[in-house]
Amino acid sequence: MDNDQLPTANEPAKAPAPPPLTAQRLQELQQQWLKEIAEALSLDEVAKLRVRLLGRSGALRDISAAVGRADPVERRELGRAFNETRNSLESALSAREAALAAAPAAAGKPAGFDFSLPGRQARRGRLHPLTQTVEAIKDILIRLGFEVAFGPEVERDYYNFEALNIPKDHPARDALDTFFLHDDVLLRSQTSTVQIRVMEKRRPPIRIIAPGRVYRPDTVDATHGYLFHQIEGLAVDESVTMADLKYVLHEFARGLYGPEVRTRFRPHFFPFTEPSVEMDVSCFACGGQGCPICKRGGWIEILGAGMVDPNVFQCVGYDSERYTGFAFGMGVERIAMLKYGIDDMRLFLENDLRFLRQF
Ligand code: PHE
Repeated sequence: MDNDQLPTANEPAKAPAPPPLTAQRLQELQQQWLKEIAEALSLDEVAKLRVRLLGRSGALRDISAAVGRADPVERRELGRAFNETRNSLESALSAREAALAAAPAAAGKPAGFDFSLPGRQARRGRLHPLTQTVEAIKDILIRLGFEVAFGPEVERDYYNFEALNIPKDHPARDALDTFFLHDDVLLRSQTSTVQIRVMEKRRPPIRIIAPGRVYRPDTVDATHGYLFHQIEGLAVDESVTMADLKYVLHEFARGLYGPEVRTRFRPHFFPFTEPSVEMDVSCFACGGQGCPICKRGGWIEILGAGMVDPNVFQCVGYDSERYTGFAFGMGVERIAMLKYGIDDMRLFLENDLRFLRQF
């Protein structure tokens, strides 16, 4: 008797005859159900699937009935396939349940994550190139015995000028063009202000560095901004000499540019130091041969310095017969531009990620 067609046609007012059950059909159903289980996004969905598939009037019950109706020859094979399907559904449901319960992060994501896919690279943050430069400079000077001090960016004329031996109407004020906020209040145009603030509060010995922002009403271009950064240095003690200044700044240059670097002092003028110098380093790009970076000269100017002027000591009440000291100041942008080969300082303030990600 050919019983391929399930004998439902004669049963009264029932749902239309389901297609005949074959091992292959069961395979297909099983694949589809396993897929649904794998894609379940919550424990709730898994529970519903469990009822729909394995529940008392679930899908497997109909299958089981169909197996029972199959002809005895096929029934054995179908029975085995049926058991396999039920087992695999049961373990798939339990596995998905466990995964969702164990890792809440798996909720909302289908199972079967492909671990062989290349990972998504996590973008790490990094320090701004100016911050990196300040940190490098600070590290070297801290190793040389300096500690970090700060002063306000909104300052009094007294700290920016008067106490630094730049009286009103002194021509040196022109070189330090300044944003004034009120008569006597301004945005500091140099970190030398911190020299005064520290000396007012402390007695020697003093060895400090002061990193910070300074402001000057320059017309903005590739090498000028209205805001830039300086690092100030100050050392005061009994019998501090220019040789100490030279030693510290040479060691500083070696720390920044490597042990081979050469340094030289050129006479200069600053109102608050006497004598005053500018320091050059041998060009780190060509080693002093002459190249476009050092404009063929072989030397690059990196800072101003000098011995603290006795007039400055007088302002803070230090005995200039007893104490001597040196001070230096450098522009952070300039050092960073030279170091990284940056030709436009506006880049530092634009926060263009294409620029910042290069450091
Ligand atoms: N303040 C000076 C400037 O801004 C730099 C400097 C600091 C020079 C300390 C000598 C000593 O140009």
